[in-house]
Amino acid sequence: MAAPGCAPWWLPLLQLLLAAGAGGAQWSGKGTSQRLQSIFLGRCAEYCSLVSPELRDKNCTAIWEAFKVVLDKDPCSVLPSDYDLFINLSRHSIPRDKSLFWENNHLLVTSYSENTRRFTSLSDVLYGRVADFLSWCRQKHGSGLDYQSCPTSEDCENNPVDSFWKRASIQYSRDSSGVIYVMLNGSEPTGAYPVKGFFADFEIPYLQKDKITRIEIWVMHEIGGTNVESCGEGSVKILEERLQSMGFRSSCLDDYLPVKLLKCVDHSTHSDCALNSAAASTQREVSSLDTEQSAGFIIPLLVALASGSQM
Ligand SMILES: *[C@@H]1O[C@H](CO)[C@@H](O)[C@H](O)[C@H]1NC(C)=O
Ligand SMILES: *[C@@H]1O[C@H](CO)[C@@H](O)[C@H](O)[C@H]1NC(C)=O
Ligand SMILES: *[C@@H]1O[C@H](CO)[C@@H](O)[C@H](O)[C@H]1NC(C)=O
Repeated sequence: MAAPGCAPWWLPLLQLLLAAGAGGAQWSGKGTSQRLQSIFLGRCAEYCSLVSPELRDKNCTAIWEAFKVVLDKDPCSVLPSDYDLFINLSRHSIPRDKSLFWENNHLLVTSYSENTRRFTSLSDVLYGRVADFLSWCRQKHGSGLDYQSCPTSEDCENNPVDSFWKRASIQYSRDSSGVIYVMLNGSEPTGAYPVKGFFADFEIPYLQKDKITRIEIWVMHEIGGTNVESCGEGSVKILEERLQSMGFRSSCLDDYLPVKLLKCVDHSTHSDCALNSAAASTQREVSSLDTEQSAGFIIPLLVALASGSQM
């Protein structure tokens, strides 16, 4: 690393020229998503009509207008509070025992939560859904959107995307109740629980103790991958101790079976995914019972179907 003051005098000039040049990305994050507004409005409409029809009175146009004020701001001067009106218009309650927090597991959480049918992760509430996987920022020197790149925390703290997820995470935490689930990645080289991160800094501190019965941590490992940390180890231990010191009742499970089975869909021939003999024998018992009972069930069913078809 060069010490400050040792950089040649022309370096800032070169950086400016590179940034201004065609294709020169100014920031380290991906640029504004193409068709941002259409995706946002389409997701909002789908969520409020199909996923959660009790939100049919939400005004997606008003929600978009509250969101887009940040698109007029300097891309390093957007605060979490700039999304207050957006959150006020889009927030809604989260079902008890359905909150699923996570780090380093985005795609797995998306498939496991199953579009609110199984769990309601932050991407499954309206305010998280509209922005999931998207990026947005205004140009540094100009009024249009920057489609080349957007700042991340490496560039500046108060960038539009991080500030959004900070504000959304705080709301999600405050509105979570009952049993809280947390999915961590035990194959992540830097540790399953990032001691600085959205969960550590913008979710845990905002959990409402009086509404929460217990916290259950799942540490998932990649099938056939490295086992970096498990329950009771390293950063997971730090998390368990933090929750305990805050007065939460918590437990931790390695490779929670329903989620492991989902991961096994992509590794069905791997030995870690072989179904054990106990499961197989249970299945056999069930099917032999089925045979005995089937005649007693099928005949009335046929009678019912036949009488139904005459009506
Ligand atoms: C929805 O919000 C927009 C923008 O604030 C407003 O013009 C429109 O009248 C609202 N629609 C309804 C049905 O309230
Ligand atoms: C939005 O803000 C208004 C005014 O502060 C408040 O009365 C209302 O309850 C808020 N709505 C939600 C859903 O938080
Ligand atoms: C878990 O972390 C490993 C290592 O970073 C990564 O390769 C893997 O994709 C992660 N798993 C999920 C479900 O994101």
